[in-house]
Amino acid sequence: MQHEKVLVLDFGGQYNQLIARRVRDLKVYCDLQPCDMTVEEIKAYNPIGIIFTGGPNSVYDATSPKVPKEIFELGIPVLGICYGCQLIAHTLGGTVEHAETSEYGKREFTMVKATSMSEGIPTKSVCWMSHTDHVTKVPAGFEVLAVTESCPVTIYGNVARKIYGIQFHPEVVHSEYGNKLLENFLYNVCGAKGDWTMANFVAEQVERLKVKLNGKKVLCAMSGGVDSAVAATLVHRAIGKNLTCVFVDNGLHRKNEPEEVMSVFRDGLGMNLIKADAVDLFVDALAGVSDPEKKRHIIGDLFIRVFEKEAKQIGAVDYLVQGTIYPDVIESGKGKSAVIKSHHNVGGLPSVVDFKEIVEPLRDLFKDEVRRVGTELGLADEIVWRQPCPGPALAIRIMGEVTRAKLETVREADAIFREEIAKAGLMREIWQYFAVLTDSKTVGVQGDFRTYENVIALRAITSVDAMTADWARIPFDVLERVSTRITNEVKHANRIVYDITSKPPATIEWE
Ligand code: XMP
Repeated sequence: MQHEKVLVLDFGGQYNQLIARRVRDLKVYCDLQPCDMTVEEIKAYNPIGIIFTGGPNSVYDATSPKVPKEIFELGIPVLGICYGCQLIAHTLGGTVEHAETSEYGKREFTMVKATSMSEGIPTKSVCWMSHTDHVTKVPAGFEVLAVTESCPVTIYGNVARKIYGIQFHPEVVHSEYGNKLLENFLYNVCGAKGDWTMANFVAEQVERLKVKLNGKKVLCAMSGGVDSAVAATLVHRAIGKNLTCVFVDNGLHRKNEPEEVMSVFRDGLGMNLIKADAVDLFVDALAGVSDPEKKRHIIGDLFIRVFEKEAKQIGAVDYLVQGTIYPDVIESGKGKSAVIKSHHNVGGLPSVVDFKEIVEPLRDLFKDEVRRVGTELGLADEIVWRQPCPGPALAIRIMGEVTRAKLETVREADAIFREEIAKAGLMREIWQYFAVLTDSKTVGVQGDFRTYENVIALRAITSVDAMTADWARIPFDVLERVSTRITNEVKHANRIVYDITSKPPATIEWE
């Protein structure tokens, strides 16, 4: 089935992925593409509408990205947001000016004209601004649709040509009716039907995979994380026992994780799932190593070695399944940035497995869509809503050398933290939360005795994509319960601290 598609042209703004997610949440498939797509390429893509995103540039810079005028002659509806809004005006003969002061944050705007874009939106509502330039004169044939006190052209458009510009950011939650504006553009202006649902996705993918993988031997490295779990379940639904999954038990997983993976996927779903028992191998190899990058490399290399050994026993396979998701695809298209941490994932596997092709059934999906697909496939909330855990897992949540005793301490503390977060119903609000075993010892008093034990840190963050993060405002009484329970129930922990650093400047994980 060919889905209706919206094309989101990426001008480099910080909320661009969010725009794409909002459109998909409104049940319309969309793709984020570089802003220099040619008119021919756009025609071939055949979108029902085009969205220009925001971006850091000014339309008056010689080097800022532009679009050919012909885009507006295709008869395809266009919506420009922030920079995109200014670009439409600039290209079609309007005026964009540099404001004396930048405008950031919440503003009240007034709809001055009713159009199909304003359906269901009150005359006055709050929007989220973040700009310096703004449109001061709309192009011929266009009219002003909304204003704020300091922004004379907040929304403008040409109803007949179906071209609109919005100066603020409808995609961020602080824009009260932002989602409604996007919905109006998609359904009232572009005439979308809304055929992008996870039920459709599952049905189509299973059919596609059945045809593609019919009679083939397929292998998948299951990490215990959401992405590989959902990818494997989707492929399993299509080809059953022709899929073999390998789970490497490295002794660094969170409490009960290996047991849960085996019980859900092998016993529950009947998957052909092999557990490679490599606990001693990993823990012994980490003895005496305290440098975070060294730990990461040892774990990454060993993982590949263990997997290779298993793969050799299985023999040649036709396909290797990978849990690549859409943000990975977008990120890998960008330029090289500084290596902050060497991420361990299954990227090294292709070189050691004898296979013909890689299959990535989730490469078009955002994380929240992957979760919805998981639910659609009948996976339990504990799997679907499991938070991201890095490949090196607890090894990089223990500062300094990793030992069996320290693994035990951090694993128990982490389990208590997770349990209390779940009890407080905060599981979905907080993007990631875990315990860290610091390498500090402090003096305490427990049962009339002096103790000299470890400091455990709690880390909990809210985030959209893990690129930036804010520390989660967990209610004090929940933190208190976690602190009391850890100091009572976990050996060798006598002090609990809460990490209140955002990313940047810190990272999410401590190592
Ligand atoms: P940082 O600590 O860099 O983490 O702010 C960003 C996100 O990535 C996860 N993370 C990893 N994921 N392999 C992974 O697949 C890794 O080696 C790794 N290290 C960090 C981290 O948990 C957070 O969600």
